Amino acid sequence: MVTKDIIYVGVNDRLIDLFEGQFTVPEGMAYNSYIVFDEKIAVMDTVDKKFGDEWLTNIKTAIGDRKPDYLIVQHMEPDHSANIVKFTDAYPEAVIVSSDRAFKMMQNYFERDFADKRIVVKEGDALSLGKHTLNFIAAPMVHWPEVIMTYDSCDKVLFSADAFGKFGALDADEDWACEARRYYFGIVGKFGAQVQNLLKKAVNLDIEIICPLHGPVLKENLGYYIDLYNTWSSYGVESDGVAIFYTSVYGNTKNAVGILMNELIKSGCTKVAVTDLARDDMAEAVEDAFRYGRIILATTTYNGEIFPFMRTFIEELTERGYRNRKIGLMENGSWMPVAAKTMKKMLENSKEINFTGTVVSIHSAVKKENEEQIKALAKEILQ
Ligand code: FEO
Repeated sequence: MVTKDIIYVGVNDRLIDLFEGQFTVPEGMAYNSYIVFDEKIAVMDTVDKKFGDEWLTNIKTAIGDRKPDYLIVQHMEPDHSANIVKFTDAYPEAVIVSSDRAFKMMQNYFERDFADKRIVVKEGDALSLGKHTLNFIAAPMVHWPEVIMTYDSCDKVLFSADAFGKFGALDADEDWACEARRYYFGIVGKFGAQVQNLLKKAVNLDIEIICPLHGPVLKENLGYYIDLYNTWSSYGVESDGVAIFYTSVYGNTKNAVGILMNELIKSGCTKVAVTDLARDDMAEAVEDAFRYGRIILATTTYNGEIFPFMRTFIEELTERGYRNRKIGLMENGSWMPVAAKTMKKMLENSKEINFTGTVVSIHSAVKKENEEQIKALAKEILQ
């Protein structure tokens, strides 16, 4: 129960291996759906294809002999839209309410645009259910172009589509920010400007509860969640410390990273987050790169460029608009190290990037002069 009139009818997915075909979700995933009860009944979004029957049972249990009047479709990504046809088969008299763009997507997905039973809404439109009024907010690219969000002015609830969501089923006992941050930067990270636009609209609403399409309903301390979204979407620095991202073929670059880590700690750095890009979760690495303001990239020269996992990692950052960071570089190479130059070039179009003057350049294994470079790099990255 979200409020007296709003009930949760979503599902937990503990069968999933990769969310959106790429993100590991060891604690599963939740596909949220809600019912707003009034003189009219509105169902907010559907769920992933695998859970259509469970979801329809949840609806039936909640509404009994009543019938839903509306299905509000806020987002057409299949984890939320896959059961639209199943819903209309079960409730042929219900009207689908969504954006013009979403109905075009329905045509693409289902070869139906529901022209005989639809209401097309846009920013500023409202739908009265009785005492509840659903006010629609355009939220393009948070994180698809057709997205609308919905504000119920009666219960002061924002149905926020993918925004404020997280990985993890609702029965997972885990920190919100950790999996919400990995979700945000993995999925929405490129669209910081659009999230900022949304937050500007949200400021004008009196919100007491946020109902996202993934993760828990947020009822308390909303400022905490909104502040984090503001930091993330403005590419701000969330945490003090240094994040080191490395690849190592035979352990020599890893050895240099260990020496750097000790130097940073000796210099008073309270948090050093180290990621082996070949072995650790790439989405965790991406969220850490956006979390900290100071990062070190350490990799091997490989095929005249850089080791593949580092290449992928930097591409993951640049395609999400990586910016506003201080970066130190460490390279290794047995005959002609070019990794630092390659990494710098890959980041040349990223805004507000400040590279340290010191570059650690190792030939095969760490020598005395490299130890001096590492000390200098530690000092400079912390300045
Ligand atoms: Fe949860 Fe963008 O779908």
